[in-house]
Amino acid sequence: PKEFVKKYIVLLALHKLNTFHWHLTDDQGWRIEIEKYPRLTSVGAWRKETLVGHSTDDPAAERYDGVRHGGFYTQDDVREIVEYARARFVNVVPEIEMPGHSVAAIAAYPDLGVTGRPTEVATKWGVFDDILAPTDHTIAFMQDVLTEVMALFPSPWIHLGGDEAVKTEWKASPEVQARIKALGLKDEEALQGWFMKQMDAFLAKHGRRLVGWDEILEGGLSPNAVVMSWRGEDGGIAAARAGHDVVMTPTQYTYFDYYQSKDRDREPLAIGGYLPLEQVYGYDPVPAGLEPEFASHILGAQGQLWSEYLPGPKAVEYMAFPRLCALAEVVWTPKARKDYQGFLTRLATHLERLSILDVNYRPLDQ
Ligand code: ACM
Repeated sequence: PKEFVKKYIVLLALHKLNTFHWHLTDDQGWRIEIEKYPRLTSVGAWRKETLVGHSTDDPAAERYDGVRHGGFYTQDDVREIVEYARARFVNVVPEIEMPGHSVAAIAAYPDLGVTGRPTEVATKWGVFDDILAPTDHTIAFMQDVLTEVMALFPSPWIHLGGDEAVKTEWKASPEVQARIKALGLKDEEALQGWFMKQMDAFLAKHGRRLVGWDEILEGGLSPNAVVMSWRGEDGGIAAARAGHDVVMTPTQYTYFDYYQSKDRDREPLAIGGYLPLEQVYGYDPVPAGLEPEFASHILGAQGQLWSEYLPGPKAVEYMAFPRLCALAEVVWTPKARKDYQGFLTRLATHLERLSILDVNYRPLDQ
């Protein structure tokens, strides 16, 4: 809900976290109104039902809840949230995913896809073969979307995803193969690099910088791109050495959708993984393997709170806190001054503040 997004922004500001990265589109829903393309929300914001629990290797064993789910933020909602954040010194970075994680967009406008076949907004989690077509039509469409997005978000950075874009459809399509050839590109990875470069040039023309997940390194990095290093630290190191700015987002330290205990039966269902508070606190956003002359390219670190297993605000708060408190100290404290025991002592008082603010943090002693 919009009111919860505002509460979350207040909590970011309280912890001196100055950026809210808002993941607005994915396979299971398109969540931002685009006036030129109303089907993105009239169709793409709704899925007919949702998988119960985790996916399994045996689709026949999967159960669905039978409940239509969806919703989206209107442009007025977005303006209100962006202004609310600005007044609290928080910049909102929107993310519009491409060319993968685009099932909802392709369900709304099948001609954005490679096959042109009608499809439905995804009802389970994961990674899908559906991918945007690297055509002039799709590029122009997504640039129209970005025109509206840039009008709503003053952020110098616009995130275009780029992660987990499966190349099966590009490999199988004679049209896509012909395009690769016509452009003189080596392969499908290079084609994704080319696709992102079209977007990078478009954003640059409007004074904005592209941000992408570290897969954007694989097809040749766009000149202005900022990299979010999520599959460990290597992508961040490579990007910084190449002179690109980087936000460190490695799964093993910053994925707040991971379990907070090894005893999963006592925790709400989560995607997997294990990321206890102490591990977040122990993180150093400047990778040990990075030469000091490149360290200034590390803009900071970010906590990831993917919400497919978080049915509402209280669940979001439970996963975010107190790990977000540890992350705040990680990004504001020189390494030599970090002290986990001191943090825990101060956290005891801080948790009382969170209680007064009605934050459903995860208690420490469980
Ligand atoms: C990601 O977690 N797919 C960036």
